Amino acid sequence: MFKNNRIVIGLLCIMLAFVVIACQEKTVDPYVEEEESSLITVGFSQPGAESAWRVALTDSVKENFTEERGYKLIYKDGRSKQDNQIKDIRTFIQQGVDYIIISPIVETGWDTVLSEAKEAGIPVIICDRNVTVSNESLYTAFVGSDFKAEGDYAITNLEILLAENGKADEPVNIVHIQGTLGSSAQLGRTKALEDAIETHDNWNIVYQDCGEFTKAKGREIMSNALKEVGAGNIDVVYCENDEEAFGAIAAMNEAGVRYGAEGGIKVVSFDAMNSALTMCMAGQISIEVECNPLQGPYIYNLINHLEKEKVVPKITYIHEECFTSDMLDVDFIASRKF
Ligand code: AHR
Repeated sequence: MFKNNRIVIGLLCIMLAFVVIACQEKTVDPYVEEEESSLITVGFSQPGAESAWRVALTDSVKENFTEERGYKLIYKDGRSKQDNQIKDIRTFIQQGVDYIIISPIVETGWDTVLSEAKEAGIPVIICDRNVTVSNESLYTAFVGSDFKAEGDYAITNLEILLAENGKADEPVNIVHIQGTLGSSAQLGRTKALEDAIETHDNWNIVYQDCGEFTKAKGREIMSNALKEVGAGNIDVVYCENDEEAFGAIAAMNEAGVRYGAEGGIKVVSFDAMNSALTMCMAGQISIEVECNPLQGPYIYNLINHLEKEKVVPKITYIHEECFTSDMLDVDFIASRKF
């Protein structure tokens, strides 16, 4: 009797093990297609990672397009070359993504690849910098900065600063460190300065070169300007982003040249990253124009609207401000995200 009970229990255990294994195994029917992932796929093409600002933009997009929110983001870094960005976009098209986001390194040269995306029926959102194309229908929407407006902010504040320093009518010699040539950020900020040169007879550009939006180039250009023009003949250095301003300041420190509120060369910069705002608060940078990298939420809302088949605005300019030291304190800077 006792022996029979042990046999029955043993058989029951074996049967239970079969049931458990059967439940765990996924039956695959080769004639039935696997269920597709319900995630919406988004390809994001960045031009590179030349600045802390750009890393902040990448993070902002990544934070918004998460799997928890129903998205799969494919990120590609173009390593500072338009050709690489074009290849990345073609890869997105081949992969059949649902949306493409592009931050274009320069404004022109996108017609062909955007036509390919359009033919494939993939909506394209341009962010940060804009494109110049033969037909606006090649992209769905733009979200980013109004770079000419940023430049105009800088110029208005420079006029005020020079007037406060009694230099409204004296010669003003400017070193101009440009960003990546042909990018919207460079074109808009440069245009604002060129317009100001036209309207101010006493303003002159005494040295100009392209700093590629990097600290290393900014440093090299300012160092060359100091050697060729001389610190005594420079009143302002107009840097087209914070990295270039950090480089220009490093060159002035190296050469023992005075700059900022305490006299000497005035530094104008764009981006207003927190590290630069701290220097602005301390008077080292005189004018900081914000370029807002927190564009992820705007792009996320746009794509959500498109998913619901709602009409979206063609152009969305993101809110940006201009700062001088009197407007800044530690708490304000700490409250900012970039
Ligand atoms: O397009 C925005 C500009 O690009 C930012 O000013 C700069 O820091 C970045 O690299």
